Amino acid sequence: MNNSNRPLDVVILAAGQGTRMRSALPKVLHPVAGRPMVTWAVKAAQELGARNVVVVTGHGAAAVEAALAGTGVSFARQQQQRGTGDAFLSGADALPLSGSAQAGDADILVLYGDTPLLRPSTLRALLQDHQARGSAFTILTGELPDATGYGRIIRDEAGNVTRIVEQKGATDAEKAVREFNSGVYVMDARAPELARQIVPNSVTGEYYLTDLLALYHAAGAAAHAFKLADIDEVMGANDRTGLAEAEAILRRRINTAHMRAGVTLINPDTNSIEDTVTLGQDVIVEPGVILRGKTRVADGVILGAYSVITDSVLETGVVIKPHSVLEGAVVGAGSDVGPFARLRPGSVLGAGVHIGNFVETKNARLDAGVKAGHLAYLGDVTVGAETNIGAGTIIANFDGVNKHQTQVGAGVFIGSNSTLIAPRTVGDAAFIAAGSAVHEDIPEGALAIARGKQRTMEGWSRRYWGGMREKVGQKLPWLAGWLEKQ
Ligand code: UD1
Ligand code: CA
Repeated sequence: MNNSNRPLDVVILAAGQGTRMRSALPKVLHPVAGRPMVTWAVKAAQELGARNVVVVTGHGAAAVEAALAGTGVSFARQQQQRGTGDAFLSGADALPLSGSAQAGDADILVLYGDTPLLRPSTLRALLQDHQARGSAFTILTGELPDATGYGRIIRDEAGNVTRIVEQKGATDAEKAVREFNSGVYVMDARAPELARQIVPNSVTGEYYLTDLLALYHAAGAAAHAFKLADIDEVMGANDRTGLAEAEAILRRRINTAHMRAGVTLINPDTNSIEDTVTLGQDVIVEPGVILRGKTRVADGVILGAYSVITDSVLETGVVIKPHSVLEGAVVGAGSDVGPFARLRPGSVLGAGVHIGNFVETKNARLDAGVKAGHLAYLGDVTVGAETNIGAGTIIANFDGVNKHQTQVGAGVFIGSNSTLIAPRTVGDAAFIAAGSAVHEDIPEGALAIARGKQRTMEGWSRRYWGGMREKVGQKLPWLAGWLEKQ
């Protein structure tokens, strides 16, 4: 929360095109660590307890606004991208309580939609410094051996910050300045009024928000710089390489936090874990695992290599074997899943369930101790405790138009390669013979055999192969020898 007594308004600049991304998608919507870049700025603003958050949109405005719908932010459309000064004013004008009448009422924080690495803790420190110094305008700055491309911070002999000079207008002496402008500022409530005095830059014709510093200075107001400890935080993702770097930094941050909290990541550079995921103690994450959305993993779970798990709940001691894909699934304590298993939405597994390779479940409730070891499709079905589902079992849930429900009781034994044609009910402790096509309900405790009766024709092979001896001799020497002996 914003722990000062002054309320905080946040303006997020996100109207630029981002041409270097070379994309049909607006730059600020490119995902970083699983969510559109701009949502990281929104999240930071909200974690600071901002009173109002305004996102300035322009290029791809409708898409950006749609992506942020429901987050509680408001939008200001910047009709033409005439520079950061103009963008700021569009946003400030959309703030409910802006303007000189409310001077002293609020601080305004300016963020960009393309700097997903800024930590809320850094912003909190910036705000605290701003308030502790009684500053009117505080710039977040960093230092680089070579700050080419950034605006440079110019100070007077006393060390006070007086103005910002952009790369294009900088003298050689100014270009040598290592302190650069991150583009993040905290301003007092005079900012909109002062920003109206910004004139187009003589070099580019754009309205530079950076000119605000000199305007504050001229108004006799105290301006300061707050230096970043970690300049990675203001690294903008300007093109696809910047995007990948931002992704790597954010991923490392998330992974490090999990490791500090008692999770083993065997090769963390290969794991993508969204910040919405929670992991318990002594969870082991093998290489290549991807964890997304609202996934919750309890203590002691093992996540096998190259598994992708989305919006799923894994209870204590679950083992997911390599190459499994889970989405919207609940896996009960002590269950094991995979390798190569697929649990689709609505899969709810009780405790100690065993799901083996090439088993697919969808909208399926499998009670405690159910086993489906190999090659099965279980859709729109409930299965009672301890039922054994043989290899190759298919729940034929779809008639071409509608899905139908199947209920299988507890303690049932389903023989291999059986098809249960839905809607079907199978009673507790029933048996289904291997290879059955079950098209009638089976009562409790019964055995159902639903397959053609076997015919065995003695001597059939000798007659069949004997009719083509020459070809068999050429292609199948063992069989030719066998035929000779008949
Ligand atoms: C700006 C700063 C520079 C600073 C740098 C840090 C100015 C004049 N310069 O330069 O001092 O070192 O950021 O990254 O402010 N935007 C709009 N509407 C516009 C123009 C920009 O919304 O009309 C948004 C962009 O989408 C972007 C942000 O403002 O998120 C910054 O714009 P950009 O053009 O990248 O500014 P820089 O030239 O990098
Ligand atoms: Ca930029």
